[in-house]
Amino acid sequence: MRVSDQPDLVISRDDTCDICLTGVTESECDKYPAKQHARRVATKLGAGGGLLYLAGKASVNWGDSDQPRPFRQRRYFYYLSGVDEADCYLTYDIRNDRLTLYIPNFSLHHAVWMGPTLTADEARQRYDVDRVRYYDALQGDLVSWVDRYNKDGPVYILHSAQAPDIPTEGLWLDDESLLPAMDAARGVKDEYEIRMIREANRISGLAHRKVLENIHRISNEREIEGLFLGTCVSQGAKNQAYEIIAGSGPNAAVLHYVKNNEPLSGRQLVCLDAGAEWNCYASDVTRTIPLGRDWPSKYAKDIYALVEEMQEECIRRVRQGVRFRELYELAHAIAIKGLQRLGILNDGSVEEIRQSGASSIFFPHGLGHHVGLEVHDVSERPITASSSGNGQPQSEFVPEMSTPLLQEGMVITIEPGVYFNKLALENARTLSLAKYINFEQAERYIPVGGVRIEDDLLVTRTGYENLTTAPKGEAMWEIIRRFEMS
Ligand code: GLY
Ligand code: MN
Repeated sequence: MRVSDQPDLVISRDDTCDICLTGVTESECDKYPAKQHARRVATKLGAGGGLLYLAGKASVNWGDSDQPRPFRQRRYFYYLSGVDEADCYLTYDIRNDRLTLYIPNFSLHHAVWMGPTLTADEARQRYDVDRVRYYDALQGDLVSWVDRYNKDGPVYILHSAQAPDIPTEGLWLDDESLLPAMDAARGVKDEYEIRMIREANRISGLAHRKVLENIHRISNEREIEGLFLGTCVSQGAKNQAYEIIAGSGPNAAVLHYVKNNEPLSGRQLVCLDAGAEWNCYASDVTRTIPLGRDWPSKYAKDIYALVEEMQEECIRRVRQGVRFRELYELAHAIAIKGLQRLGILNDGSVEEIRQSGASSIFFPHGLGHHVGLEVHDVSERPITASSSGNGQPQSEFVPEMSTPLLQEGMVITIEPGVYFNKLALENARTLSLAKYINFEQAERYIPVGGVRIEDDLLVTRTGYENLTTAPKGEAMWEIIRRFEMS
């Protein structure tokens, strides 16, 4: 409790309380706001009673192996606990506003081989929970709660597979309401979460800069991956928010290319989509880097400029109340006009071409998504239609009014791209939209591969804050040229 939260509180000699003075010890005061999140989820549930029950991620080995799989906490569990440790459980008693964390029992074997697990005292100090109990107490506590309170409210679980291990006969269980309530709560970020995403972006920015500084002496995609990863790890960010994508030349046209093992020789651009994770929060950053001290071709320069325009025009319009779907349509309109200027699209108006799906051959994914505990984070409703991602026109003509508005506190990406994927183009020849595409001209761009530029934006009441610090455009060129000469 913070003393300042309860000015009228009288503390007697026998009371026990944790007093937290802002600015005294950072670890005490800067706890992950788990309790606030639990209350927020209860509000979204609209429930006055009931028990949230969540299992954290268990420690597991790889199949047929004695080696542990790298641990990744379940994100719903983290949202309600801030605990990035294996084998924990959590309950939140809504009526009594009581958040309880269950930690693994002490194991000497685990302590000797892996180091000791948390003690209850450490967990109490570290996490914003009301009670810390050992796993041994979980079943008994659940049974007591059910006996006493289950008549007034259900046990809420995320999935039917996560039911608690107690007698279920007569148990009032709800496995449908919690997930959407948590998705709705997670869609808008609080100040603490924004700080984590900002830090993840700061580290990603350093790593992208490091790649730019060294790009002139890098000869294979794998060195880009290594340099990016090494920079993040040395900054304390052990995990990436997603697999690094370092695709050069035609590989840049494969949206989730992760082999990252081809030589850069003869390639024009490399698309580096890579973002560090910080305390389980993601960043998601894409930069497309020219190889050489000048634009490798007019084709590459033109496509970069087009994607830059798509991104700048969309970012400029981000603010609370804007329909993201309209930004997505704007990006398509800019892409179509640009591709018409380059002679790649023709024989139709912007609207006709858009309706035909021809622009989706070149811009086959969405404009962006939420970022948070997941790189593609959850929310009450998706901000845009999802992408098929296979170069096919997507089923994207959802009614305009059914897509949600941006809200203050959302963190979203704006990530337009234009690609020349050989297989997607070959397939497009067989579709009715082929009449809008000048294939001879489009194929000249295949060596460019593709360009994507992606930033993470915090939506505010009056606009946005760009959380991404990785250099792009002129700032990118300045670094490439300066380091090439040094
Ligand atoms: N940056 C990876 C993605 O958005 O899919
Ligand atoms: Mn993204």
